[in-house]
Formats: sequence, structure tokens, C-alpha cells
Amino acid sequence: MGQKIQAVKGMNDLLPVAQKDFKLTAALWQAFEDVVASWTRSYGYRQIRTPIVEQTGLFVRSIGEETDVIGKEMYTFPDSNDKLSLSLRPEGTASCLRAVVEHNLLYNNPQKLWYMGPMFRRERPQKGRYRQFHQVGVEALGFEGPDVDAELISMSAELWNRLGIRQHLTLEINSLGNKQERAAHRTALVAYLQKHEAILDDDSKRRMHTNPLRVLDTKNPALQPMLKDVPRLIDFLGIESLNHYQTLKEMLDGLNIAYVENPRLVRGLDYYNQTVFEWTTDKLGAQATVCGGGRYNGLIEELGGKSAPSIGFALGIERLLLLVQEFGHLAVNDVPDIYVLHHGVGTSLTAMQQAALLRSAGLNLYVHCGDQTLKAQLRKADNSGAAFALIIGEQEQVNRTITLKNLRTHEQQTVEAESVLQLIQDWKNT
Ligand code: HAM
Repeated sequence: MGQKIQAVKGMNDLLPVAQKDFKLTAALWQAFEDVVASWTRSYGYRQIRTPIVEQTGLFVRSIGEETDVIGKEMYTFPDSNDKLSLSLRPEGTASCLRAVVEHNLLYNNPQKLWYMGPMFRRERPQKGRYRQFHQVGVEALGFEGPDVDAELISMSAELWNRLGIRQHLTLEINSLGNKQERAAHRTALVAYLQKHEAILDDDSKRRMHTNPLRVLDTKNPALQPMLKDVPRLIDFLGIESLNHYQTLKEMLDGLNIAYVENPRLVRGLDYYNQTVFEWTTDKLGAQATVCGGGRYNGLIEELGGKSAPSIGFALGIERLLLLVQEFGHLAVNDVPDIYVLHHGVGTSLTAMQQAALLRSAGLNLYVHCGDQTLKAQLRKADNSGAAFALIIGEQEQVNRTITLKNLRTHEQQTVEAESVLQLIQDWKNT
């Protein structure tokens, strides 16, 4: 026997049943995808699907060389001719914009788009953090805002409502201002950090020069007191940025969406400006951010398109479903309505024919395959979760009848084959 090969660390199988260390099932996932399809449709967003592999340069240019995602976490490999570097996508915004620019979708036409699929980051795996994880992303391209900023945030809140987890999520918002405002703040921030260089950890020392805003993100408790008096970006915002932010907050108030202003919220990707936001929870341990996004007004131009102000967000499906599974509601239906049993010569064919008839009436049937005693088959029917068992034995075969058993009440009745659908309806109605 050959040696077993295991899945790559941090990459999960989705099975029909829960696993010991990964409780999400494929049926729960499918039910979530159905909710996503109707939720995005109800806001007029249309789906886009892009390849999982892109040229590495796309991600470097949009996400930023100094970010952890580009610096440490990408799965990058040369194409066969060695001339091209390719990467598994670490997020969906860059690919979405690449496709929009390539196919000129924004020509006289703003776009509201959504996508869903696997993303890849070589992070240290733990609960809620994986190397292959999945996102649903929503992007509104060609809109100045702040109305669309408010729409997007309320759209995310509506999804939490539909999944029954709104009370477990907190919305944090901030404004990063525009490029010039950020540059002025950066100068002041670096000067402040240099004054405190002696107490900075290695990570913060490095970031002070490469990406000083990210120092504000540090979880190091020793640095928190120093961060209290750090120059605040909000104090560097001009009138236009402040108005944008103020109007967004008023609209959120008007939509009854509670938020916490977090002046240190900066996000881990470099393309953001103006509005940024995150939804966090205290129910998932360290991996608290379920959804994050913001404005990226210059990115489309950066990727060779005509400038178009834009905003979007992405949610992590695994984190969200871990929350839904424990605290929310999502109807999962992967059990058959009817389990079909058969016993005796020629009965398996009759069972399949009968099942085909009932399927065309919209029922879901699991037909037993193979030879087993009726008792063993009934045990399987009970374990299947089906409400009814349909039994075709030799007697039934000869008489062109069917025995229907209600697996909940154990009531059993033999009727003519033509009447079985009616009997099922009657029993369902009682
Ligand atoms: P992000 O914050 O990097 O943003 O990722 C969005 C969400 O993906 C996170 O809030 C988290 O729930 C989930 N996520 C990220 N990394 C992992 C991981 N290793 N394991 C499990 N879940 C993870 C973006 O990706 C932006 N593209 C969002 C965006 C769209 N901004 C504008 N438009």
C-alpha cells in the first residue's frame, strides 16, 4: 500500500460532515453561497469571475511591495518559460480591476461587481486563518461617494442580518484622507516614531521607514502607551476629506448602523484612501476581522485604466461561517426527502423507475444500491435523515404497489404505485 498523501497545511477539505479540527461542511457552505447570490442581486451587484493565477506584477503594483501580503505571503512561481512570474491571488480586488481595465467595462458605465472564491496567503495557520481561504468581495467602481460608501457598509450589515449574526459584529471606521494629506501625516508620524525609536520593537523599526502607518497596527502591548499621543491622521485631513467622512457618518446614522471610530484603523493593503472600515467580532479569538474594505480611488489608474473613484470590501467566508455556525442561522438541507429500499429479483430497476417519477415531481430521493437485507436498508434509511422510506419488495413488484413508511411516526401503508405521490403529500400535510 502506498503512503498516504495529506492536504497542504492550512488548506482545508470541505466534506459532507464536520471534521474534528474544521467544523464547516460543504452543505453549510453551499447554503451560504445561495444567500450570497440573492443578497448581491438584491443590491444590483453583478458577478465577475477571474483566474486564480495572475502575473505577480499585478499584485505587487496594487497591494504594495512593503505589505506582509507581498513581502512574505504570496505563492509565487515562474511560468514554464521562466520569463514570467506568476502568483496565486492573495485577494480579489486587483484581479477584478485588472479584468475591468482589460475589457474596458468602465467605458461610460460605472460598475457594481461581486466575486467569490479561493485566495492564497502563506500565513501561519490557526483557527480562522488559513493558507487557502475564501472571500466574497464586492466592488463599486466609478462612484465618488460618500453615498456608495454608506450603501456598501449597509449592504454588509444586511448580510449579517440575513445570517443572524449582526449582534456579534462591530463596525469600525476611519478616514485615511488623500495622498497629500497622508504624506504630510507620514512626515509627522516618522518624526514622532524616531523620537521613540529606543522602545520600538524590530518590526516597528523596520516599518517606521517602509510603511509607518502600519506601526499603528501593532499588537505589541509595550508600544500601546507610546501610541496614545501619536500624530493622528484625522488632524491632517483637508475640508474635502473631512466632508466625505462626515457625510458618511451622517448616512450611517440615518441608516441605523452603529459604528466605532478607530483613528488607528489603517488596513493591511496599501491601496486605500479616504474611507476604510472593518467588521470585527470578539467570538473568534485572535482572528477577529471578518470583513474589511475601503476606498481605493487611484488604483484603477495605477493599473492602466482611466481614473475612476472606487470602493469595496471582502469578507472571509471561513471566519464568517464559523460565527454563523455557532451563533447565527443558515438553513442547510442536504438530506433526501425519501430513501428508496428494494428487496427481491428485479426490484432495483423498479425502484429506479419509481424514483425517477417522483424526482420529476420535485422530490429528492436516495435510491439504495447493492444487495442488503431489508433490515439493514431500513437502518440506513433511518440514518439518512429522510422523512420517508419507500419500499419495493417482491410482493409489491407483483402487485404494482409500493409501501411507504413514515420514518418519524413509523406509520406504514401499501398503496398502488400511482397513488404514492398523493400519500406523501397527505402525510406531509398532517
Ligand atoms: P483583507 O482585509 O486582506 O482585504 O481581507 C478581507 C478578509 O479576508 C479579512 O477580513 C478576513 O476575514 C479574510 N482573510 C484574510 N486573510 C485570511 C486568512 N489567511 N485566512 C482566513 N481569512 C482571511 C482584502 O483582501 C481586500 N481585497 C478587501 C477589499 C475589497 N478592499 C476593497 N475591496
